[in-house]
Amino acid sequence: MKLAPALQYSHELLKNTVRPGETVVDATVGNGHDTQFLAELVGNSGQVLGFDIQPAAIQATTTRLAAANLQNVSLYQTGHQNVDQYLSTDLSAAIFNLGYLPSGDKSVITHGQTTIEAVQKMLPHLRTEGLICLVVYYGHPGGNDERIAVEKFTATLPQKEFNVLEYQFVNQAHTPPKLIVIQKR
Ligand SMILES: C[S@@+](CC[C@H](N)C(=O)[O-])C[C@H]1O[C@@H](n2cnc3c(N)ncnc32)[C@H](O)[C@@H]1O
Repeated sequence: MKLAPALQYSHELLKNTVRPGETVVDATVGNGHDTQFLAELVGNSGQVLGFDIQPAAIQATTTRLAAANLQNVSLYQTGHQNVDQYLSTDLSAAIFNLGYLPSGDKSVITHGQTTIEAVQKMLPHLRTEGLICLVVYYGHPGGNDERIAVEKFTATLPQKEFNVLEYQFVNQAHTPPKLIVIQKR
C-alpha cells in the first residue's frame, strides 16, 4: 500500500464518513474538483454548499458540475466566513483547500483569520463523527502565516468534544500540503 498524499487521504476519510442524503460544505470550490467529489458522495438526496470569493471559480465549478449532470450543489460567491448565513441543518463534513486558485490569480489567497472564523461557525453544526478537513498549502507568500494560525487554533479545540489529526510527509522538498482533520466526538 502506498501512503496517500494529503488531498487523497482527505478524500479517503470523507468517503468513509459521508453518507448519501447528508449536507456537506466545500469551503473553497476553486475549479470544483472537491465539489464534484462531494456531490457524488451525498447523491441526489443530499446537498453540497460551495463557497468561493472569485467569479472565475464559481464559473469553472458551475461548468464542471453541469458536465457531470450534478444538480445537488448550491454555489455562493462569498467568503466561507459567511457560512452561518447559509447553513441551517447538520453537517457531516466540510473541506477547505487553502491557498490560491491553480491557474488563477495567485495573489488571491485564503487567510488564517477568515478560515478560522468559518471553522468556528461550522463546528456547532457538525454531527457526531463528522469531519472538517483542511488541506493546507503553505509554500506561497502568506501561506505559512495561515498554516501557523490554523495549527494553533485547531490544537486548542477541547479534547472531550473533538479529535484533531495532523497528517504530513515531513521529509519531502517543496513544502507538500499538510492535512488537518477535526472530528466531532
Ligand atoms: C486552493 S484553491 C481551491 C481548489 C479547489 N478545491 C479545486 O478543487 O480546484 C483556494 C480557493 O479559495 C478561494 N478563497 C480565498 N479566500 C476565500 C474565502 N474567504 N472564502 C471562500 N473561498 C476563498 C480562492 O478564490 C481559491 O479559489
